[in-house]
Amino acid sequence: MIIAIDGPAGAGKSTVSRAVADALGATYLDSGAMYRVVAFKTLSGSDAASAARSTLIGLGEKVTADGVDVTSLIRTPEVTARASEIAALPLVREALVEQQRKLLHDGRSWVAEGRDIGTVVAPDADLKIYLTASEDERAKRRAHEHGLDTAEVQAAQAERDRRDATRDYSPLKAAEDAVEVDTTGMSIEQVVAKISELARAATSPA
Ligand code: DC
Repeated sequence: MIIAIDGPAGAGKSTVSRAVADALGATYLDSGAMYRVVAFKTLSGSDAASAARSTLIGLGEKVTADGVDVTSLIRTPEVTARASEIAALPLVREALVEQQRKLLHDGRSWVAEGRDIGTVVAPDADLKIYLTASEDERAKRRAHEHGLDTAEVQAAQAERDRRDATRDYSPLKAAEDAVEVDTTGMSIEQVVAKISELARAATSPA
């Protein structure tokens, strides 16, 4: 079983995807963490495409790059901005998409979050969710989570949204067969319950 959860930054994808994976006994794939690891490597001089091809990325409770724990290092504003830039590079995407496809088809059940899971990585997913929230609410959530200024978060977010949605290669967009869930005004519990219900309906034998 593969559940794809795509959408823009700040829609609540990570929290919701982890919780849905727990509820369904599935493994959680944070594809954004892979782009962040590559971005992190480029900040110390690595070529992005080579880093995407050759870095051994470990995902789980901790994120590792060639065995080194980078869990908190990949969450800085600098890495966040760089990740959005390198995510537009076709060679980077090809290398990471290949690794993601291998993971998702290893026989386990997965809840995978990202921008292109339902459209490119796993068009065969059993359920595709496109998670959104108003721009305002997304910025507020991120600012609150990281103790930052809402206006600054909103400006940086708008720039990344624009870049993610307008890049030539795999832009952020909902798959045609995705269920759009607008989380504005919903609690995490409500969103998790809704998606878990959709997942059970999509994967239970008819
Ligand atoms: O979800 P996130 O903020 O950790 O993602 C980091 C960056 O990677 C973000 O700019 C979008 C990009 N990304 C992507 O292009 N495709 C994915 N499947 C996941 C993330």
